[in-house]
Amino acid sequence: MRPHVTVNCAMTADGKIASKARKQLRISSPEDLERVKAMRASSDAILVGVGTVLADDPHLTVKGLPPEKNPLRVVLDSNGRTPQGARVLDARARTVIATSEECPATWPGAEVIRVGKGKVDLAALLDRLYAMGVRTLMVEGGGETIFSFFERGLVDRYSVFVGPLVVGGRGSPTPADGEGFAEDRIRRLRLVDHAVLGGGVLLTYEVIDG
Ligand SMILES: NC(=O)c1ccc[n+]([C@@H]2O[C@H](COP(=O)([O-])OP(=O)(O)OC[C@H]3O[C@@H](n4cnc5c(N)ncnc54)[C@H](OP(=O)(O)O)[C@@H]3O)[C@@H](O)[C@H]2O)c1
Repeated sequence: MRPHVTVNCAMTADGKIASKARKQLRISSPEDLERVKAMRASSDAILVGVGTVLADDPHLTVKGLPPEKNPLRVVLDSNGRTPQGARVLDARARTVIATSEECPATWPGAEVIRVGKGKVDLAALLDRLYAMGVRTLMVEGGGETIFSFFERGLVDRYSVFVGPLVVGGRGSPTPADGEGFAEDRIRRLRLVDHAVLGGGVLLTYEVIDG
């Protein structure tokens, strides 16, 4: 059994999720930030890749919630690159760092789940999280992580806020980077909701074929 997985991110009107220097951008409107806060608060766990930890150093918590009410934070980090002082390791919430089986790294205050040879095995990780009581998982990025979830057929819902900015740059991260799909493996989505939230639009999709 696996948790229900919602991928949530914010992209610019030209389909980028950060600047060409991979720096975090304020893409969400205040209304979207409120929605993301509520979505986080109602999720059992929030997951990002180590690329996001290194680029943005996020807390991944909900402001105002005590540690025991905050969702579990999960970082995909096959080789143990999460810095010891990363904000995701603070005492505001529980944290799991998922590494490969070979990775010896440990972090004070974080639980380590070692799954997969060389790279974190996402399906095995989701099984472990389910066994820990996680029923709803919010995947926040970045592009490598989101692509991997789509590639493994592990996404149930995809919500993307489209903000009124153009960033450009052929190397700027997008919601799904990775290797990309061959034409016959492209994922199909069904639009299930759309809403104007301040200056942008929230699109919500279900994944048709995993
Ligand atoms: N706008 C938004 O909503 C939003 C949200 C989040 C992030 N971002 C942006 O996204 C950018 C970071 O994205 P990113 O693509 O560079 O990094 P990322 O997706 O955050 O992290 C990718 C890294 O995670 C590790 N990983 C471990 N297991 C994995 C697996 N099974 N599949 C995929 N990755 C795995 C890999 O490093 P190892 O091989 O070392 O394990 C991989 O390089 C930043 O610029 C950030 O600002 C934007």
